[in-house]
Amino acid sequence: MGVLRQAILSLLAIFLLSMSWQAFGSSSSSSGSFIRCLLSHSQPCHPISRAIYTPNNSSYSSVLQAYIRNLRFNTSTTNKPFLILTALHESHIQAAVLCAQKHNMQMKIRSGGHDYEGVSYVSQVVFFILDMFNLRSIHIDVGRETAWVQAGATLGEVYYRIAEKSKKHGFPAGVCPTVGVGGHFSGGGYGNMMRKYGLSVDNIVDAQLVDVNGRLLDRKSMGEDLFWAIRGGGGASFGVVISYKIKLVRVPETVTVFRVAKTMEENATDIVHGWMNVADKLDNNLFIRLFLDVVNIGTHGKKTGRATFVALFLGDSEKLVSVMSKSFPEMGLKKSDCNETSWLQSVLFWTNFPLGTANDVLLSRTPQTLNYLKRKSDYVKNPISKDGLEVIWKRLIELKAVILKFYPYGGRMGEIPAEETPFPHRAGNLAKIQYAVNWNEAGKEVTDYYINLTRKVYRYMTPFVSKNPREAYFNYKDLDLGINHNGKNSYREGRVYGIKYFKGNFNRLVKIKTKVDPGNFFRNEQSIPTLPIHKQIKLNWCLQSVV
Ligand SMILES: Cc1cc2nc3c(=O)[nH]c(=O)nc-3n(C[C@H](O)[C@H](O)[C@H](O)COP(=O)(O)OP(=O)(O)OC[C@H]3O[C@@H](n4cnc5c(N)ncnc54)[C@H](O)[C@@H]3O)c2cc1C
Ligand SMILES: *[C@@H]1O[C@H](CO)[C@@H](O)[C@H](O)[C@H]1NC(C)=O
Ligand SMILES: *[C@@H]1O[C@H](CO)[C@@H](O)[C@H](O)[C@H]1NC(C)=O
Ligand SMILES: *[C@@H]1O[C@H](CO)[C@@H](O)[C@H](O)[C@H]1NC(C)=O
Ligand SMILES: *[C@@H]1O[C@H](CO)[C@@H](O)[C@H](O)[C@H]1NC(C)=O
Ligand SMILES: *[C@@H]1O[C@H](CO)[C@@H](O)[C@H](O)[C@H]1NC(C)=O
Ligand SMILES: *[C@@H]1O[C@H](CO)[C@@H](O)[C@H](O)[C@H]1NC(C)=O
Repeated sequence: MGVLRQAILSLLAIFLLSMSWQAFGSSSSSSGSFIRCLLSHSQPCHPISRAIYTPNNSSYSSVLQAYIRNLRFNTSTTNKPFLILTALHESHIQAAVLCAQKHNMQMKIRSGGHDYEGVSYVSQVVFFILDMFNLRSIHIDVGRETAWVQAGATLGEVYYRIAEKSKKHGFPAGVCPTVGVGGHFSGGGYGNMMRKYGLSVDNIVDAQLVDVNGRLLDRKSMGEDLFWAIRGGGGASFGVVISYKIKLVRVPETVTVFRVAKTMEENATDIVHGWMNVADKLDNNLFIRLFLDVVNIGTHGKKTGRATFVALFLGDSEKLVSVMSKSFPEMGLKKSDCNETSWLQSVLFWTNFPLGTANDVLLSRTPQTLNYLKRKSDYVKNPISKDGLEVIWKRLIELKAVILKFYPYGGRMGEIPAEETPFPHRAGNLAKIQYAVNWNEAGKEVTDYYINLTRKVYRYMTPFVSKNPREAYFNYKDLDLGINHNGKNSYREGRVYGIKYFKGNFNRLVKIKTKVDPGNFFRNEQSIPTLPIHKQIKLNWCLQSVV
């Protein structure tokens, strides 16, 4: 008995040892053969070796950290890539896509690195990063009012280059200048001109993409389905976006901005209630963002709620004051609250630089601040009542660190049909809410504490927001909404978050995904799954019976 047991145990030990050697051996030797594969695809004029960073390269850490925009994923325990490929040319992307499939490697695509859950540079399985920051060219054609912008460009660079060529043009995209084009445009992209011109994806007319077969496609060769998918469905499920062709929009040479804050003692509740009733119905040239947070009053640590209104008006201050006094008198806006400026300077104002700051800070790739952070989102369909607002203030004061950010919809957003792009949150929305918590300390306990706060406020807000589904904005990646466990391709798991992000458009995204990437090479924690086999058979049968 004892001998047998001994024998079984030692057999087991040998078995386990050989398993782990095998795993280790195969992963390091397959990373070697992956690198050899990359090198074998190198073109004489575009050597790929210059784009390869492995952990034994002295620049590896700085390359990895350069585009980490959430410090939650800058810790020693965060999984690191076995390789970073800082593509310098399209051929490097094609090589990465082909070799990764051949050697069964998970690829993460990173452009600006602003993914709130670090999905572009963290994984639970062995992986490498295809880093796009070198591919950042911007070509503006003022005459045709278009531009080609590469995925690795930042929004600040796009805005700066447009204004360099024309004072009468702009582009509707995000407020934070260091956000990358690759993730932002492929996932929707909103900013303070959304009520006038819609989202970034509503102003894209062509794209270049490397597909799962390593082919370089444009709108014509990829077809309208795939072109539809990469305008809001997220690029990372469908291919590697190299560039987008955008349609510039017209802006006046003078725009007006204001920032006005009111505490509860200054009637914030009445003013916020006024905002609820008009924010989505105002003149399309006017966008008023609302923040709710908590501040100290007096010296005894007493806390109160504060509402901050930040606006962009595509017109002069005189007109703005008249629009406000007619539509939103609760605010009592005066001309002296306003600043007239250029559209490009308004971009700086919105990201908290003082007016008059040199425009070229928009070219800086160093973020103004870096934090540990967690975000969640919601959609508001109906104005929140004064009683509702009182409840929300009470909760915010109790939680202290949470900020609620409301972004008004309506205008152009309500006119574009929900099926026009994968982004489904159109007519019927008063505003989107972002729940934001920032902190500046590492550690599991601290992290759990702050993440818990966002989950609590999300629970408290249930009565005030959309249901069935409780909608969410895809570019505000939130893994609490469900995860497609990496390496798997579960339609059932994917549907859970997919319906929240894409509502009825999820089904079309799944069909396109199944067609263009049936093996699910392009995947991550919240990518679009392929159809399960039994549904594929049904789909084919349906298609045949239609034909
Ligand atoms: C400080 C801050 C401010 C923000 N402000 C706004 C805002 O005003 N409006 C708004 O709409 N959103 C905003 N966001 C959210 C932002 O739009 C998304 O995080 C967006 O996905 C970031 O794009 P990125 O290229 O910087 O991110 P990345 O982390 O590089 O990528 C995000 C996702 O897109 C994929 N991806 C990236 N590049 C490519 C590519 N070339 N091809 C295919 N897939 C790709 C990645 O794999 C990942 O899944 C903000 C985020 C932050 C951190
Ligand atoms: C690191 O990688 C880069 C790019 O491939 C290369 O130019 C550099 O020589 C490498 N440095 C070291 C120390 O290996
Ligand atoms: C660095 O790592 C790569 C891949 O793991 C390997 O091919 C190379 O020989 C290593 N270089 C050094 C100097 O250790
Ligand atoms: C990220 O972590 C590294 C290693 O601990 C550290 O050197 C670096 O300063 C961190 N980055 C930021 C922005 O804190
Ligand atoms: C708040 O509203 C009341 C009643 O409308 C008004 O009398 C008071 O002046 C307002 N307070 C402030 C600070 O605006
Ligand atoms: C903004 O407007 C205020 C009020 O009109 C004015 O006092 C201030 O100087 C302006 N600031 C800038 C930077 O123009
Ligand atoms: C966070 O919430 C979970 C679940 O409610 C709880 O178990 C945990 O103790 C909380 N952690 C912290 C640090 O608050």
